[in-house]
Amino acid sequence: MPAFYKELVYKTKLKLVGGMLSKPQSKPMVFIGAGSSNELCKTIAQFGIRKLLVVTDGPLRELGILDDALATLAGAGVRATVFDGVLPDPTAQLVNEGLGVLRKEGCDSVLAIGGGSSIDCAKVIALAAANDCSAEDCIGANKCKLPTVPFFAIPTTAGTGSEGTCIAVISDNETHDKGGVIDNSMIPKATALDPVLMRGLPPHITAATGMDALTHAIESYIGTIGNAETDFYGLASAKLVFQQLPEACRNGDNLEARQAMALASYYGGLAITQALVGYVHAISHNLGARYGMPHGLGNAMVLPHVLDLLKTDAAKKMAEIAVHVGIGEVGETDQNLANKLVERVWALNREIGIPGTTDLVKEDDLDELVAASLAEGSGYPTPRYFEEDECKSVLKQIKA
Ligand SMILES: NC(=O)c1ccc[n+]([C@@H]2O[C@H](COP(=O)([O-])OP(=O)(O)OC[C@H]3O[C@@H](n4cnc5c(N)ncnc54)[C@H](O)[C@@H]3O)[C@@H](O)[C@H]2O)c1
Ligand SMILES: [Fe+2]
Repeated sequence: MPAFYKELVYKTKLKLVGGMLSKPQSKPMVFIGAGSSNELCKTIAQFGIRKLLVVTDGPLRELGILDDALATLAGAGVRATVFDGVLPDPTAQLVNEGLGVLRKEGCDSVLAIGGGSSIDCAKVIALAAANDCSAEDCIGANKCKLPTVPFFAIPTTAGTGSEGTCIAVISDNETHDKGGVIDNSMIPKATALDPVLMRGLPPHITAATGMDALTHAIESYIGTIGNAETDFYGLASAKLVFQQLPEACRNGDNLEARQAMALASYYGGLAITQALVGYVHAISHNLGARYGMPHGLGNAMVLPHVLDLLKTDAAKKMAEIAVHVGIGEVGETDQNLANKLVERVWALNREIGIPGTTDLVKEDDLDELVAASLAEGSGYPTPRYFEEDECKSVLKQIKA
């Protein structure tokens, strides 16, 4: 595709995306600290909610992660029905299953307890319930007339930041291609960043989800539609991840590290809900759709390669991140600082056990993966566009 045409397609798409996100966005009421999830549950009762659908996944329920919250809700007079059918990267069909439970039980509000998959599934259940429609009807930007039924979220992973975004990622029933629902009303009314619920998160999921947070921080910051507020959250998030992610992986019981990562994730969400993401997500979404690769792992593996390609065009912004997180000094050249940031991301990946390559990626799939990633990337406010061979080089480098 000629460069000028690509530029035109990009600008048109970006205008559309910018338009979708341009309204002022609310923020959730935030409860922070050990036990804050119970405080949120008490507040849900004080809001007058009586028939709540709790959306989660099976393993979390079996681990007992919901027990305290359910007991608190029951004690406060809230009847909670649990839908625990969420699977990673939820499909529209799965959302409809949860919606069926909400309707059958007459629930009028939704609480997500889980990772990004549970929160995204719950967001769309809450939106479709209010609009008396199906999940498929919600896919796209601002497709629904009415705001969600009252919706709350308690994250149990620290990475997606979905508790702070107006976005839900929903996969196609057949192709598993990732699509988006964008609706400002899906930003939860309240959320709890409770490190206690994250203690049992295994090191490899802590690592991968934590790198999702770092990717949000960096992609929102180096992108072209950020503002002073998203820059603030992006920098704060990146610093917390570099400081605390290794400790959260090494010692999952360290509540200080878990709390820092929960905040990093939330701040990353506040950044991308306005400033969006970039090629790391475009490529990682397609690795997830084709191979079921976990979102955070895909981001972690792709991030240093994409930064390496962008380190000249985004040198100034990458240099600012490097200085803020303490890996360089003001006065060094931007290029030097940008190089240091790439090296630091590599070092973090190694420290937390992110593999450099994967045997999931197949040579025969490369052309389709490149086309799909470039198409998705053209809708993001990335510092510049990739050529096909650049995108392919990223995939080749992570291919075992
Ligand atoms: N809406 C957004 O703004 C946004 C942003 C980024 C990513 N996403 C989406 O979020 C999804 C990924 O979410 P995720 O990375 O949080 O993973 P996830 O929700 O799919 O959970 C991953 C695994 O971790 C387990 N788990 C979760 N919390 C646990 C805990 N405390 N202890 C033990 N096990 C636990 C789950 O049972 C699951 O098996 C993807 O679909 C991605 O596209 C959404
Ligand atoms: Fe992400």
